[in-house]
Amino acid sequence: MRNGNREKEKSPGDWGVTSPQLREEDEKDLSLRPQRLQEFLGQREMKENLSVFISAARERNESLDHLFLTGPPGLGKTTLAQVVARELGVDFKVTSAPALDKPKDLVGILTTVAEKTVFFIDEIHRLKPAIEEMLYIAMEDYELDWIIGQGPSARTIRIPIQPFTLVGATTKAGNVSSPLISRFGISCRFGFYKKEDMEAIVRRSAGILQTVVEDDAAVLLAASSRGTPRVANRLLRRMRDFAQVLGNGTISAAIVSRGLERLEIDGLGLERHDREILRIIIERYNGGPVGAETLAISVGETVDTLEDYYEPYLIQAGLLQRTPRGRIVTSLAYKHLRLNRPGNELPL
Ligand SMILES: Nc1ncnc2c1ncn2[C@@H]1O[C@H](COP(=O)(O)OP(=O)(O)OP(=O)(O)O)[C@@H](O)[C@H]1O
Ligand SMILES: [Mg+2]
Repeated sequence: MRNGNREKEKSPGDWGVTSPQLREEDEKDLSLRPQRLQEFLGQREMKENLSVFISAARERNESLDHLFLTGPPGLGKTTLAQVVARELGVDFKVTSAPALDKPKDLVGILTTVAEKTVFFIDEIHRLKPAIEEMLYIAMEDYELDWIIGQGPSARTIRIPIQPFTLVGATTKAGNVSSPLISRFGISCRFGFYKKEDMEAIVRRSAGILQTVVEDDAAVLLAASSRGTPRVANRLLRRMRDFAQVLGNGTISAAIVSRGLERLEIDGLGLERHDREILRIIIERYNGGPVGAETLAISVGETVDTLEDYYEPYLIQAGLLQRTPRGRIVTSLAYKHLRLNRPGNELPL
């Protein structure tokens, strides 16, 4: 496949379950977003621990310790940050690392927020060094170092701020510096959701959308959603469309099978682009190893998108491995794509 054709060839397979751009679509659909810890399904151990830390902070009338959230996209990091603020009964202030351009941006926020505010910084791996250093002191001492004047007459003053809880989220924990990580008292690593939890999420969302989903349809939808609530919600909305236009409004297993086929989503929940990535490794690089940069160029993605949005699920599904020498596909990938592994050709 040539790069020039890529855009055309990507659609309609690239209708968006993994697309970062379409993340905004569900940010708008706030009705599906859990508001309280009880509605936040799955991730049981993480939730149970958090619930203890939240109760303890509330009882002591203190701000919750700083919280680090990491894991693949669409698993609920932003949602959990909001839930935590709500459970604590405190204000929620949200920004992202790229929006914090100058130290004064951070000072502007931290000097004006109310006591115990949950201050959420998304994409925390992208903080500028000057901002990050300022945060160290803010997190530890609830103070900010502010430089007044310039040149030899410049001096630093310390500005006290209200105690707050920093919630930092990232899909790239490996890119966060260890001094920053060490300042978070609580760390939550999101893994892909279990089958039962995905089913519960599908059922909850269907209830909110007032759509009937038959049991076997919920099971099928859950299994095709890459262990990712965002994907489940998006697939559910599409299936609701299919059910409405092609059926009688009820989401049945037949509707889901038909819908998934039309969206080119296979039994493992892979989209066309996922399969294309595997096929390119097999056909152009003999199954690997191939370096991330080379692969990203070959599949027409940035390294970031490849590493954050596509690979985690392919790895979890047992189709791809990251090795020090590069990416390799597994025998399961050959089997899934019905391709012969070199050396395993059937005798003529
Ligand atoms: N535990 C959960 N239970 C039910 N629904 C959930 C859960 N977690 C996430 N969701 C749903 O999935 C959607 C995506 O979650 P969210 O935006 O919090 O993911 P994220 O981890 O912040 O993703 P990104 O890395 O792209 O920012 C939410 O809008 C919410 O509706
Ligand atoms: Mg988010």
